Amino acid sequence: MITQKHTKSGFSYIEVINKNCCARVAVQGAHLFHYQQHDKKPLLWLSEKSLFENGRAIRGGIPICWPWFGKHTTDVDLPQHGFARTSMWTLVETAEADESSTELLLQLEDSPESLKLWPYQFRLQLHIVLSSDLQIDLTTKNCTSAPFTISSALHTYFAVDNIDTVSVEGLKNCCYFDALTKKKKTQKGNIRIREEIDRVYQNVPPFLKLNDHERSIQISSKGSSSAVVWNPWIEKSATMVDMSQNAYKSMLCIETTNALDDARSLGPEDKHTLTVKIS
Ligand code: BG6
Repeated sequence: MITQKHTKSGFSYIEVINKNCCARVAVQGAHLFHYQQHDKKPLLWLSEKSLFENGRAIRGGIPICWPWFGKHTTDVDLPQHGFARTSMWTLVETAEADESSTELLLQLEDSPESLKLWPYQFRLQLHIVLSSDLQIDLTTKNCTSAPFTISSALHTYFAVDNIDTVSVEGLKNCCYFDALTKKKKTQKGNIRIREEIDRVYQNVPPFLKLNDHERSIQISSKGSSSAVVWNPWIEKSATMVDMSQNAYKSMLCIETTNALDDARSLGPEDKHTLTVKIS
């Protein structure tokens, strides 16, 4: 069942309920902010202080960072993580193949507002498959007669039981850029989180694993060879209006990205798809 809904403040979202799961996708940002299998705890973390306001990104779920990841490389006044996450998308197609799987296709195209921020014509589509697994494909098409370069992220906030007991497998021996120290390093062993972490891993394999107290989550990617691991920890959380004091303990971002050296250049009419499948 697919239902168009609004929060009390008028923020629109799409609710999906099928035999496997319940999910909610905001029309702003094509932002999946809830996904839960009926017999399990929510997969995605959502801040209890998240502001569901037009023009502000939701804190949690899977924001779409596009057409640049992080700060813009030449103009710091442009919005962090691009404009896709705060733009109004259009729901262009839905499909309910059977009672256990639902597909949504959302689209964003260039507009006079986007052209002021990024001078290219494009078609961006987000295909979401909601079933016993969650699959998301973000496809960029260059509709301009000149090439452009994009960096992007499916910025997944995973809900975890307790950050102290979490580990991330699959990044051993990968090089990473530490955004906190601005240094490049190599990952030794699995990742454990003991303090603020903000790293862009390069040349990552297509399968990562998040081990939480009771569950193990597989993260498979395509069209990506980079990944970001982020947790703001105590001090940074305190500077954020939409994070409550101890919220950092119950979340970890493992982002499927095209970041730094993994940015993609597309010629006219070229397409690129960034995919994550979470099982
Ligand atoms: C991560 C970045 O992807 O997103 C961090 O690596 C950043 O540096 C975080 O702080 C959250 O960004 P924002 O814009 O949603 O607060």
